Amino acid sequence: MMGVPFEARPFAINWHFLRQTKEVMDKEVIKVRGGNRLCGKVHISGAKNSVLKLMAASILADGTSTITNVPNISDVHMMAEVLEHLGAHVSPLQNGRLSIDASKVEPKETPYDLVNKLRASIAVLGPLLARFGEATVSMPGGCLIGSRSINMHLDGLASLGVTNELVRGNIVARTKLGTLNGANVRLPFASVGATENLMLAATRAQGITTIENAAREPEIVDLANFLIQMGVNIVGAGSPTICVYGAECILPVQEYKTVGDRIEAGTYLVAGALTGGPITVTGVCPQHLLMPLRKLREFGCHCECSDDGVDNSSITIRGIDLKEGSTRLKPTDIQTLPYPGFPTDLQPQFMVLAAIANGSSVITENVFENRFMFANELNRMGAEISIEGHHALIKGVRNLSGAPVEASDLRAGAGLLLAGLVAEGTSIVNKIGHIDRGYEQIVDRLAALGADIERLTL
Ligand code: EPZ
Repeated sequence: MMGVPFEARPFAINWHFLRQTKEVMDKEVIKVRGGNRLCGKVHISGAKNSVLKLMAASILADGTSTITNVPNISDVHMMAEVLEHLGAHVSPLQNGRLSIDASKVEPKETPYDLVNKLRASIAVLGPLLARFGEATVSMPGGCLIGSRSINMHLDGLASLGVTNELVRGNIVARTKLGTLNGANVRLPFASVGATENLMLAATRAQGITTIENAAREPEIVDLANFLIQMGVNIVGAGSPTICVYGAECILPVQEYKTVGDRIEAGTYLVAGALTGGPITVTGVCPQHLLMPLRKLREFGCHCECSDDGVDNSSITIRGIDLKEGSTRLKPTDIQTLPYPGFPTDLQPQFMVLAAIANGSSVITENVFENRFMFANELNRMGAEISIEGHHALIKGVRNLSGAPVEASDLRAGAGLLLAGLVAEGTSIVNKIGHIDRGYEQIVDRLAALGADIERLTL
């Protein structure tokens, strides 16, 4: 399906076409030749990890909600297919604008083949329970970066009065007495997905639901703001304790603009750090990137923010001027943590910085148990990285060398493109379907900044 403009894509599921496109996706590669300095401006798209949940939240209301600043990425297409499967009508994406008519949504089974392609479909669990008191959603499997359990989702929902059983791979969930009851839930870990599903389910619970040790990501705040526009009273989003006051009636949202994608922005900032820049990113809130910016400065980069709080905010980065043979990036240790800690979704990209830094760095991955496979591909490009448990020990080398590599997941794929930008020679990145899940027009955007990069079908 890649290469077909999003808005032209058929939402009716043509399995034969999808199978063919999967083969095409497997043969599509991105070729990048290293050595160019990247300079210029990139306008960042809406956040993948918010818009997928806003789309799921739209099924709470019997009517049409409109979301803007929606990125044209394959995960949005997949979520649209999930919602259409449930009976919603999703308009073709036009200039970042998507309308979802949820008036005919029913609590049908959300099948394995859809959930397997898009783990985020589990976000329909909460809204279906809130609206219908029942939901049947395929239990998501693990993925390469970790087991991705949903025990915290289910335990939290149980506190609200939801019973669930596993029936032939599906979670069959229903409310005991046909209503959800507000409750006090304390999450063992500040899980993004569990916080979101609990917020969504609690919108129609009787009384108040308090979520303690809640995730604090900007995408959580975005979802809360969307739900507030639906008529739900929510306080504390962005803090460790969120209170949701169950609403009698939930209204569709006239128009809601998705927050800018801080992970996409961080990816382009790393491109500037690696190649020298300057690169300016707009359309994202600098406040959402405080920890990545702190680490970029520790690597020796110069970052400037203009944050007028609205759409004109920008961040400009200048890297170490490698061309003039000046000093190299400085080694820097990183520990990933839930927000406002360093985001795990920027871990692979920052590993590339450490891979060519002038010394040794340690990256500790505290969120996912298996998010270092990317290091193996980077070592094939000449990096010197060894893994010990959830630590990656990275001994900086002067140069990486281009090679054929394979993306194991979305952020690892982005990391490989970044490595190709500074490697000597040419790299061919395979399995780029992963990258297209979350980066809108990344090849065009990098080329516009001066990268020698192209998408090929082998
Ligand atoms: C969201 O995943 C994001 N995905 C991830 O981004 C992101 O890395 C992650 O949050 C952390 O920020 C979307 O929003 C679609 P979690 P999610 O629940 O909600 C464990 C990307 O590349 N856990 O915070 O699945 C879990 O296994 C993706 O854009 C349980 O054990 O993350 C993981 O180790 C990758 N039981 C950790 O918590 C649960 O019930 C964090 O998971 C839930 C989670």
